[in-house]
Amino acid sequence: MASTQGRGFHTTDSAYLLPNDAPEHERLDLQSRALNRMMHDQPFHAPLVHPERILEVGCGTGVMTAYLAAAYPNAKDVIGVDLSEVPQTHRNGRVTFVQGDIFKLVQDPDSPAFAPNSFDHLYSRLLTCGMTDWRGYIAQAKELVKPGGWVELQELEAIFYDHDRQRIDEDWTWHKDIFAGARKVGLEMDVGRKLEGYLKDAGFVDVESRFYRWMYGKWPGHPETDLIGEYSLKHCLPIIDLTYDKVAAPNKTADEAEMGRQTIREHMSIIERGTHQGFHAAWGRKP
Ligand SMILES: C[S@@+](CC[C@H](N)C(=O)[O-])C[C@H]1O[C@@H](n2cnc3c(N)ncnc32)[C@H](O)[C@@H]1O
Repeated sequence: MASTQGRGFHTTDSAYLLPNDAPEHERLDLQSRALNRMMHDQPFHAPLVHPERILEVGCGTGVMTAYLAAAYPNAKDVIGVDLSEVPQTHRNGRVTFVQGDIFKLVQDPDSPAFAPNSFDHLYSRLLTCGMTDWRGYIAQAKELVKPGGWVELQELEAIFYDHDRQRIDEDWTWHKDIFAGARKVGLEMDVGRKLEGYLKDAGFVDVESRFYRWMYGKWPGHPETDLIGEYSLKHCLPIIDLTYDKVAAPNKTADEAEMGRQTIREHMSIIERGTHQGFHAAWGRKP
């Protein structure tokens, strides 16, 4: 597993579960567009007032770093950090991209941009597949923002619900196996629903959160979810297969693993109107 360590933190780059190449960058950009649409094109919730310095951690292609820069045109410094090199697509004069591990950058005397109490806002989205120490990460985020600064985290809750928000995955062995396998390497596949609690436990105040339906297919009457619904059917199903192969299949015999893959296909083929996973935005202010 590609991993980095710093001051007790452990993170894996997304290459642990996902590839990191041009098609993956296109997928991430499409996913970002679909998530923004799902949030009615108002993807930022923290009530920022004239932020000067903004940091996005795990910026991937940098699409949301550029979005943050556009949303806050008076910000002087908008920085996106990622373990991998950020592609050219979203580079413009207003954003700076730094390749590195946030946990190491904060300790690096040659990177004064990442001093404690130096950002008005820290934002991150979808570190679910790479972050293995959420409480450590949130403590680090708190250290980086100024008193009065905001942290906003947006993450997946990889639980399947029906239209009435009843869980439909409780008998799905492959789903349990993915959660258990991910947990073994420290990943929390349902971290989205824990964010609000983690922020409060870390001492943030004015903590709020918002739940969104990450749709699979159509949700009639909710056109804002059309794109994510379409995206999920095309792109999330292969990711579920990939995740199963990576974290669950290694603990099984070849026959059991094949059975697991078959059941995934069966369950996914009967995904019905209204099926969704959770997506949470949670934000809080450093006192
Ligand atoms: C699944 S991608 C999501 C990218 C982007 N936030 C998005 O929503 O499209 C997660 C990204 O977090 C980055 N990442 C994970 N741990 C990190 C760390 N400790 N420091 C910097 N980047 C990190 C990975 O390299 C990966 O590009």
